[in-house]
Amino acid sequence: METVSIKDKNFRLSITAEEIEKAVSEVAQRINHDLKDTNPLFICVLNGAFMFAADLMKHVDLPCEISFVKLASYEGTSSTGKIKEMIGLKEDITGRTVVVVEDIVDTGFTMQNILDSLQKKGAKSIHVCTFLQKPEALQCDICVDYVAMKIPNEFIVGYGLDYDGYGRNLKAIYTLI
Ligand code: IMP
Ligand code: MG
Repeated sequence: METVSIKDKNFRLSITAEEIEKAVSEVAQRINHDLKDTNPLFICVLNGAFMFAADLMKHVDLPCEISFVKLASYEGTSSTGKIKEMIGLKEDITGRTVVVVEDIVDTGFTMQNILDSLQKKGAKSIHVCTFLQKPEALQCDICVDYVAMKIPNEFIVGYGLDYDGYGRNLKAIYTLI
């Protein structure tokens, strides 16, 4: 599929499923290397990161756990900067090596909010792994340790990312035309 229509918008193919697979495997290998001798807790940020987290975990060969938090900030195609926590973290992360798994770091407000809340909970170290980053859109002073792919400051859907709830099931990434 070269283009897809979701609701009132059209999107063109910009990153293929094969390119995604390669980038996800590469970022997992970096984590395997850097975090060897730890038993990390991966924290997947729902909803958007569900597909990335699932694929990433298949390539991680460390003894590890995964848990989920749910946040919402986007309305339509622009970041509101207001973040609501819908499901919080139940695990005790004291002394743990934590890897936050996100779909995309855009302005960075969501990630900053997550990091602020995790930093109070006594983790040994906190790492950030995002599938996508829009470096031009970043407005926060956060350190993103692992980025599978960098993209221009454009609205995209697919591979877990949505436009008004739709498009998360697409295997590839599509950019708004
Ligand atoms: P931030 O707080 O501006 O960094 O936005 C982060 C959240 O906004 C991500 O976790 C996504 O869920 C969502 N988001 C950012 N850019 C896009 C996009 O291009 N398409 C779909 N969702 C996006
Ligand atoms: Mg997200």
